[in-house]
Amino acid sequence: MGSLAGKTALVTGASRGIGRSIALRLAADGAAVAVHYGSNDAAAKDTVETIIAAGGEAFPVRAELGVPGDVDALFAGLEAGLGGRPLDVLVHNAAVTGGAATVEDATVEDFDRVFAVNVRAPLFITQRALPLMREGGRIINISSGVTWFATPEVVYGMTKGALNVFGRSLGHTLGARGITVNTVSPGITETDMNGWLTDNPGSAGEVAAMTALRRHGQPEDIADAVAFFASEDGRWVTGQTLEVNGGLFLGPTGER
Ligand SMILES: NC(=O)c1ccc[n+]([C@@H]2O[C@H](COP(=O)([O-])OP(=O)(O)OC[C@H]3O[C@@H](n4cnc5c(N)ncnc54)[C@H](OP(=O)(O)O)[C@@H]3O)[C@@H](O)[C@H]2O)c1
Repeated sequence: MGSLAGKTALVTGASRGIGRSIALRLAADGAAVAVHYGSNDAAAKDTVETIIAAGGEAFPVRAELGVPGDVDALFAGLEAGLGGRPLDVLVHNAAVTGGAATVEDATVEDFDRVFAVNVRAPLFITQRALPLMREGGRIINISSGVTWFATPEVVYGMTKGALNVFGRSLGHTLGARGITVNTVSPGITETDMNGWLTDNPGSAGEVAAMTALRRHGQPEDIADAVAFFASEDGRWVTGQTLEVNGGLFLGPTGER
C-alpha cells in the first residue's frame, strides 16, 4: 500500500509536463488525484487514463486560470470529484512564461496575465482549499531556478520570486494547523515549456555542460522530490525551497 493511500491530491497543470509526472507519482503512492488543466482535454484525459490503467484513482478538473471565475470553476470540479472527502495534498504547478516579457518588451497586459496565472491563482486556490484541508496536509509550490539565476524574462522570474515568498509565509502561518508548505524549484527540464531543448541541435549538450550531473532534467526528476514533501517522511520540513536541478551552475564543468 502506498504512503498516500486514502489521501487526496490536487495538482494544477497536470495534463502535461512536470504536473503530469507529479500526478502520476502521487497516484502511484496511493492518492486519489484531481488532474487540473486549462484547455488541453486530450492531454488531461491521457493523464487520468494512465493513472486508472495503473490501478490508481484520478479525475479531470478543467479550469483556465488567470481569468474571472477561475477559482470557482476549479473548485466546482474539484469538490464534485472529491465527493465530500477532504483535500490532503495541494500542488501549485500550473504556470505560463508569458513569452518574451523582457524589460524592453513587457506590456501591462503580459504582466497582469503572468501574475494572474502564476501568483494570484495559487493564493486564491489556497484560500479556497484551506477549509477542505486537515491536519497533516501538504502544500507544494513549483517555483524555478530563475529566482536565483538571471534571465531576460524578468516578469516570469518575478512571479516565481513571489511564489517563494508565498511559500515561506504560508509555512509559517499554517504550521499551527499541522500543514507543511514547501517549494520545489526545478532547473532546466524537458517539457513543452522548453521546446528549444529538443528543437535545437546542440541545446541539450549546452545545458549538460552547465550541470554537475551532465544532463537536463526530466519531469520525473521533479515529481520524485514533490513526492517526498507530500509523504509522511517530509513531516518535519516546512517553509523550505529545494533546488532540484542536477547541480545547475554549481561551478565550471570544463565541458562546452
Ligand atoms: N520546464 C522547465 O524547465 C521548468 C523549469 C523551472 C520551473 N518550471 C515550472 O514547472 C511548472 C510546470 O512547467 P512545465 O514545463 O511542465 O509546463 P508545461 O509543459 O507548459 O505545462 C503547463 C501545464 O499548466 C497548465 N496551464 C498553463 N497555463 C494554464 C492556465 N492559464 N490555466 C490552467 N492551466 C494552465 C497546462 O494545461 P493545458 O495542457 O490545458 O494547456 C499544463 O498542464 C511551472 O510552474 C513552471 O514554471 C518549469
